[in-house]
Amino acid sequence: MAAIYPDLRDRTVLVTGGASGIGEAIVRAFAAQGSRVGFVDLDAGAGERLAAELSAAGGQIRFAACDLRDIAALQRAIGEIRAALGPVTVLVNNAANDERHPTPTVTPDYFDDRIAVNLRHQFFAAQAILPDMERAGGGSIVCMSSISWMAGFGGMALYTASKSAVLGLVRSLARDYGPAGVRVNAVSPGWIMTERQLALWLTPEADAMREERQALKRRLVPDDIARLVLFLASEEAGAITAQNHVADGGWV
Ligand SMILES: NC(=O)c1ccc[n+]([C@@H]2O[C@H](COP(=O)([O-])OP(=O)(O)OC[C@H]3O[C@@H](n4cnc5c(N)ncnc54)[C@H](O)[C@@H]3O)[C@@H](O)[C@H]2O)c1
Repeated sequence: MAAIYPDLRDRTVLVTGGASGIGEAIVRAFAAQGSRVGFVDLDAGAGERLAAELSAAGGQIRFAACDLRDIAALQRAIGEIRAALGPVTVLVNNAANDERHPTPTVTPDYFDDRIAVNLRHQFFAAQAILPDMERAGGGSIVCMSSISWMAGFGGMALYTASKSAVLGLVRSLARDYGPAGVRVNAVSPGWIMTERQLALWLTPEADAMREERQALKRRLVPDDIARLVLFLASEEAGAITAQNHVADGGWV
């Protein structure tokens, strides 16, 4: 990634689900900007390894393990990161889980669990961090949506319902906190080749379908999303709020 955003240096950034996949690319991208990077993840081993690697390279990094379906645990983790790295003025609501769930198998508990992993924490992370941003005179929140609901994917109605709901969250928070200088945007990735996608879903047939649907024919990678997130976090995007930014190689 070539771009350097001087205003991101020494900013405190918090990334959820930062231990692997797109979140890891986002953590690495902010660390390369000289930001102070806090991240949370369920996967303590991967999170600790990434934090150790980036700290050894001179980064100001703090990892806190937590299951963000537990809002009290998420709030504690955010408190730890704030105490270590200072008030947070960039939040990237990235964590999610795209487990498939055929409609007949869904129970009320599973419904609640999918909303908890894919939507609820985005609101509560913002709620915990907005006072930091208000005191600082502004900030940027980037919420990960997905093209899945725009493209009309089946097989995971609660994931797509959560990802479309992110847009309502973004537009309301942008309205309420715009006067405080806080920008709130959604990013909707197309199919991004993370380890999980490669391991679980990338069959030759699915790859051929991807190539047919995308205008750009290459496979998209986590850095394609991280570079958009950096831009939206930076004041270079200072007039951009309440929008959904699709990065899908021209799929939808
Ligand atoms: N990869 C894609 O093709 C794609 C497409 C559209 C949208 N997205 C969105 O991008 C974001 C990142 O996706 P990804 O593909 O990198 O996912 P991933 O599964 O590769 O990584 C998600 C990270 O979140 C963490 N996480 C999951 N559940 C958690 C929990 N309960 N508590 C704490 N951490 C938890 C995981 O441990 C993992 O490190 C998600 O919001 C996803 O919906 C991804």
